[in-house]
Formats: sequence, structure tokens, C-alpha cells
Amino acid sequence: MISTILIILAVVYFLKNLLVDVKVSNPLENSGEGDPTIVSGKFTPKLLVKYNGSDDPKIFMAVKGNVYDVTNGAAFYGPGGPYENFAGRDASRGLALNSFDPSVLTPLDQPLDTLNNLSATEKESLESWEEHFENKYRLVGTLHNETELEATSEPTKEKSS
Ligand code: HEM
Repeated sequence: MISTILIILAVVYFLKNLLVDVKVSNPLENSGEGDPTIVSGKFTPKLLVKYNGSDDPKIFMAVKGNVYDVTNGAAFYGPGGPYENFAGRDASRGLALNSFDPSVLTPLDQPLDTLNNLSATEKESLESWEEHFENKYRLVGTLHNETELEATSEPTKEKSS
């Protein structure tokens, strides 16, 4: 009898953990957290730049089309940090080239960097950085060209509750 109760408790505990995991692992949920300008965790460069640690305490950064919440790494990316140039930006080319020079950043009014012209070594460097970010930070969304979002989302702005 006691063993049956223990088994039932174990199953309930397992199912509860499974449900929590499923909820937490949905990267496109809750990324706006009350921000009315974010739709389903889809960012344009101009939306992303708001999360540079100055205008908003949260710091987001894009790597290969994915947006990570790097607020926990504020010592690196926050104002005055060594990699502050990456805050609120697509850092892909900088990570590939091992450079935080402003020239590796795509201007906000230009199309996203396709990264097509990277060398094999640069691609490898970027991939290993990507792994670092996947393992360390929370994925909060994806990065898109403005034209892409205009074409696919209707409406493009939504109040989150
Ligand atoms: C002067 C040469 C550099 C030194 C001494 C240096 C030093 C460091 C150190 C000590 C860490 C922390 C490692 C850890 O504990 O996890 C770090 C992390 C990092 N470095 Fe550098 N670094 C240098 C150049 C660069 C360059 C050129 C880039 C450009 C891509 C870069 C990008 C990063 C990034 C993205 C992190 C990870 C931060 C995180 O975990 O969020 N570093 N660096």
C-alpha cells in the first residue's frame, strides 16, 4: 500500500517537473515581459537596441539570428563593460572575427548581416561562441529584418498582459 502511494507521488512529481520544463523551454514566450513593442519574441535591430543596458536594465544580444538575455553578464556587456558594443546588437560578426570594434556591427537601418562571407575559421569561432551563449544564457527570441516582420505579423505591435 505504502509503495503504491510512493509510486503515485513519484509519478505526480515527475509530471509536474515535465510541465515546468516545457513551459520554461519555450523561448518565444514571455520575452516581452510587459513591453508592448515586442511581438512573440521577434526582434528587429531597432527593437533590440533598446535592450542595451542603458535605456532598459535588461541586456539582450543576438548571435546567429537568436536573441539571448545576457543581463547576468552585465559586467561584460553593461555600460562601461569591455563588450558593451555588443549590448542590444547582433554580435555575430564580432564573435566570428574576435573583435568588438564598432565596425563589426551592422548599422541599425541596414539589412541583417548574412554572414555569407565569413571564412571557415571565422564560422567555427562563431559556432563555438554560439554554444557558449546557448549554454549560459536564456534564449528570448529571434532577430528579423523589419521588412520580414512587416510582411508576416499582423498586427506588428501587441499589448502583452
Ligand atoms: C585583450 C584580449 C582579451 C582578454 C584579456 C579577454 C578576457 C576575457 C575574460 C577573462 C573573459 C571571462 C571568461 C569567463 O570567465 O567566462 C572573457 C569573456 C569573453 N570575451 Fe574576452 N578577452 C579578450 C578579447 C576579447 C575579444 C576581442 C572579444 C570579441 C569577440 C571577446 C569577447 C568575449 C566574450 C563574448 C566573452 C564571454 C562573456 C560572457 O560569458 O557573456 N574577448 N574575456
